[in-house]
Amino acid sequence: MKTWEEKDKELIWHPFTALEGAPAPLFIESAKGIYLHTSDGKKIIDAVSSWWVNIHGHCHPEIVKAIADQAQKLEHVIFAGFTHEPAITLAENLLRLLPSNFSKVFFSDNGSTSVEVAIKLAIQFWKNQGVKKNKIIAIHGSYHGDTFGAMSVGDRNTFTKVFSDYLFEVDFIDFPTAVNESSVLNLFEELVSSGTVAAFIFEPLVQAVAGMKMYSPVFLNEAIRLAKQHDVITIADEVFTGFGRTGKTFAIDHLNQEPDLMALSKGITGGSLPLGVTVCSKKIVTAFQSSEAIKTFFHGHSFTANPITCAAANASIKLLVDEQCQRSIQLIHTNHQKFITSVNQRSSIKEARCLGTILALELSTESQTSYFNTIRSKIYSYFIERNILLRPLGNILYFLPPYVITQEEIDEVYNVINSFLDELER
Ligand SMILES: Cc1ncc(COP(=O)(O)O)c(C=O)c1O
Repeated sequence: MKTWEEKDKELIWHPFTALEGAPAPLFIESAKGIYLHTSDGKKIIDAVSSWWVNIHGHCHPEIVKAIADQAQKLEHVIFAGFTHEPAITLAENLLRLLPSNFSKVFFSDNGSTSVEVAIKLAIQFWKNQGVKKNKIIAIHGSYHGDTFGAMSVGDRNTFTKVFSDYLFEVDFIDFPTAVNESSVLNLFEELVSSGTVAAFIFEPLVQAVAGMKMYSPVFLNEAIRLAKQHDVITIADEVFTGFGRTGKTFAIDHLNQEPDLMALSKGITGGSLPLGVTVCSKKIVTAFQSSEAIKTFFHGHSFTANPITCAAANASIKLLVDEQCQRSIQLIHTNHQKFITSVNQRSSIKEARCLGTILALELSTESQTSYFNTIRSKIYSYFIERNILLRPLGNILYFLPPYVITQEEIDEVYNVINSFLDELER
């Protein structure tokens, strides 16, 4: 009889994984809190929140209960021409957490689709009004997902190279730093004042896939202000940053400007089930308030607003706004700040940075920063051998745990990071 590992190798195509030469995947039997349990009895700390989705720990009893209860009542129904309580409650819950300029939500299935919807809405917003604006501005280094629209507005790199002929044209501005901020804003103003720009899309304050690259809210406030002044739709992709990751409920809560559209996913269900939501401002909605077919937004997915998924999201949001969760987010942030102070001067560290629950350590390596940097597999193996899941982005080692992690568990991860740095410096 074949083992699970053999069957997996034979039958399954894993994401972002070469079909030959990649190490066999770990077989996870169950998970609880911050721990993943393997079939051979190992307990691994999920220090990357399972691709940044998990915020309350695995199999949180309240989310599990909400899923089980909803599954017994209504597991799914077509969402065109039908509606249900979990979706309406979720819309209310989300809009309560967001600035008052937001007024409607559109459901889809994941981060990429929530971005696709935002881009399509921004394009149609202008078409519906008979205005000819077709350009989109994005920031170099950005990642917005793997579907074609999302790839088009993302950085052109090794991951998208084979598809480059099929991606639409986008104007990319440089990633803003303390050094180039004002020149980037000058170029941005030139672009948005051309009268041809439909939308500006950005990952607010943190470019996650680019290596947890952080930039200033002062820049983003000014960019959004300029975009608004020149009537350009602004799209905040909060797929990664949403639901407490940056220390506030949303990254836009660090700003005083409000975007027109927001893409949400990952933490929305506490990481339990897939869901994408695009939140729309009143301004966007107004351009679609018509019974004409040509002005209708013709987009939808089979599992749009799945009731079980929405119920999971409602349970997760209830946990997120609870004082205990807010204290945990603060605890992680305070720890990250202290840890940065303790490692900042180490020779193996090029730059250490944090925002909210995100800690990123850029390691000094000979070769340049890249996902394919060889240190990546060295870091991964070092930590997994010590029962910690850290999945670096090239030479960027980052730690962003589910918020339920305890002080002792945070210290355990820091200790192993310190041992790894000792080894690098030897
Ligand atoms: C900022 C951002 N947008 C979009 C996505 C795509 O989300 P998904 O993987 O759910 O399609 C990601 C995924 O990492 C992301 O970080």
